[in-house]
Amino acid sequence: MSLLNKFIKNQIKEPYILVCSSKAQMLYSKELLDKNHVENEFIPTPKGFGGVCTTAIKFDKKFQNEVENIVKKHKVDYQGIFSLENRYKYDLHEIYDMNVSKQFKNIVKKVEANIDLQKEEVKFLLEIKNKEEYDALIKMADKIRRECVGDRIELRAAIEFSNYCIKNCNYCGVRRDNTTHRYRMSKEEILNEVAKLHNVGIKTVILQSGEDPYYTTDMILSIVKEIKDKYRMGITLSIGERDEEEYKIYSEAGVNNYLLKIETASKRLFDKIHPDDSYEDRVRHHELIKNAGIRLGSGGMIGLPSQTIDEIAEDILFQREFGVHMIGFGPFLPASGTPYSEESKGDLELTLKVVAITRIVCQHVFLPATTAIASLHPEGQTLALEAGANTIMLISTPEHLRENYQIYSKKNMVDLSFAIQSTKDSQRKLPKYLNFGYIRELGYEIEDKLID
Ligand code: 5AD
Ligand code: SF4
Repeated sequence: MSLLNKFIKNQIKEPYILVCSSKAQMLYSKELLDKNHVENEFIPTPKGFGGVCTTAIKFDKKFQNEVENIVKKHKVDYQGIFSLENRYKYDLHEIYDMNVSKQFKNIVKKVEANIDLQKEEVKFLLEIKNKEEYDALIKMADKIRRECVGDRIELRAAIEFSNYCIKNCNYCGVRRDNTTHRYRMSKEEILNEVAKLHNVGIKTVILQSGEDPYYTTDMILSIVKEIKDKYRMGITLSIGERDEEEYKIYSEAGVNNYLLKIETASKRLFDKIHPDDSYEDRVRHHELIKNAGIRLGSGGMIGLPSQTIDEIAEDILFQREFGVHMIGFGPFLPASGTPYSEESKGDLELTLKVVAITRIVCQHVFLPATTAIASLHPEGQTLALEAGANTIMLISTPEHLRENYQIYSKKNMVDLSFAIQSTKDSQRKLPKYLNFGYIRELGYEIEDKLID
């Protein structure tokens, strides 16, 4: 079966999950199940069965005994095999009691019982027009966000270490044909920035670049290893499509996450906006990254030229079907010098609806309030945090270079002070793992009640 069909038809009717005790055991189990022809896939561990950043193996009930026999026979160290019928249930009576239509109430009931929403229901939510239902949608997402990931904002920092790119994506300001000053950071420069993040107490660094083969596997690996050795930080790579072997090498070196967005789950639109890529390949890379044992970051753009509501509904469901751990949805923003420079930007409310519905549909995952939404509207980041998002990405590229990483025009260079303000405005908490002694020395006033 092609991956595309798998996405459409792959609705396991009675899902079960296997939760292992470590990443090594999880990879080993997947190998065993694959060898025994048990259809299975990695998904973010659902609420109630493990932490927000852990991974479980999903399979159909019909394989339950077989899976149990296999893991026992091979002495896999596992925490359990669970039916997803016994999933965590939500209490949404407050939403149910709001002034909303019968159709909306039916959806609330399904979400309460934790029954997967179908495409028609997602479309209904995307098409909400009246204020009461919009407010109810945001409130429902906020409630699920609180139960799944709490009030603490996860702070990550991105170093955009090269803006060279061999690709020519129609929407992107650093596409190959765009004239812009190109730069590459050396390993030393990158590590210098990582040291600053470490001082602030940031736990995960995102190494991001255009698709730039100048950085070979060995170069990336040596940067990864040094960060791991010196700082023990989590690492997210966002360096475009690489090959299967490479993902495995990065996984073994301890890379935790890999960000490679689908951008749009519609083949029609994907192929239209990506002159150098194929939809099937991008989907395949999603599988390769996950199967290497790296948590997958995906997501996409809302309001792309000619994009339909039907396609956006599929974008959201794609994230659930592909078991994505970190889902970044932001508005499309026109970038000067690109074929789409005169197109209109994505809509704020529609993007917020997408964030909210993604939280409701995918639940136990990281949802960033993206830089793009912070660039679209001065309060975009706060509004996204109030609509289900829980993660902020700081731009930590050296100041003299960051202006050159304009994937879209008028980018908001989200920094620590902006993130602190959004955290306060959305009445959330800063993570206690930050180094507040140092942050206060830098001149920030942070009350203890802001820390969780
Ligand atoms: N508008 C919004 N987001 C964009 N990205 C790239 N170009 C644009 C744009 N014009 C996003 C894509 C990409 C990430 C690096 O930035 O989602 O994956
Ligand atoms: Fe390159 Fe990524 Fe921009 Fe495409 S979206 S042109 S791959 S940096």
